Amino acid sequence: MEVAIRHAAEADLEAINAIYNSYIVGRHTSFDREPWPLAARRRWFAKYAATGRYQVVVAVADGDVVGFASSSPFRDKAGYDTSVETTVVLEEEATGLGLGGRLLAALLHRLVSEQIHRAYALIALPNEASIQLHERFGYRTVGTLDEVGHKLDGFHSVLIMERDMSDPADPMRRSADPPATDG
Ligand SMILES: CC(C)(COP(=O)(O)OP(=O)(O)OC[C@H]1O[C@@H](n2cnc3c(N)ncnc32)[C@H](O)[C@@H]1OP(=O)(O)O)[C@@H](O)C(=O)NCCC(=O)NCCS
Repeated sequence: MEVAIRHAAEADLEAINAIYNSYIVGRHTSFDREPWPLAARRRWFAKYAATGRYQVVVAVADGDVVGFASSSPFRDKAGYDTSVETTVVLEEEATGLGLGGRLLAALLHRLVSEQIHRAYALIALPNEASIQLHERFGYRTVGTLDEVGHKLDGFHSVLIMERDMSDPADPMRRSADPPATDG
């Protein structure tokens, strides 16, 4: 499977939205309860750009978007501006192939040259693949929000993982996703 990683475009939003929505119904992965309408996804995308703190990259396999990674405001108060929340989501058939790592590498590579001090991943438990993925990219666990969300049959805890984005020796400053990025 030939996979390219590039910045997301308007034309990708339907696919991005479908992938995200597939983890809402019947899953605890997202604490949303209702699927996002496409119009909401378009409003969401207006906050992202090809440079800056808030970016979206997609994985494209044989012309189809099969996953995305994004960096978003951590919290909506000015003092949090230098922190972002990162997310990686693949369609189910594309999991387990290492594409999560390629997306996260491409995103982090773009973010380390921006004015970002910390990146956070908030992982609804259980999700061992996501924890392993983020550990591999230098995120460390800083805490757990115990039973912070209620979805489906019960309460779920959220693991908070933090990544230092200010290290001058960060390997992400050098390595992008060599096979197929748009720089
Ligand atoms: C989480 C996700 C992004 C990981 O991406 P991926 O490409 O499937 O991950 P990989 O195949 O590279 O596996 C990542 C690691 O988890 C491990 N892993 C995979 N599935 C696992 C499982 N069920 N149990 C334990 N470990 C697992 C892999 O061995 C790998 O370990 P390594 O990094 O030490 O090599 C992807 O599975 C996904 O999109 N899942 C659904 C949405 C989601 O949960 N997103 C994260 C929200 S926080």
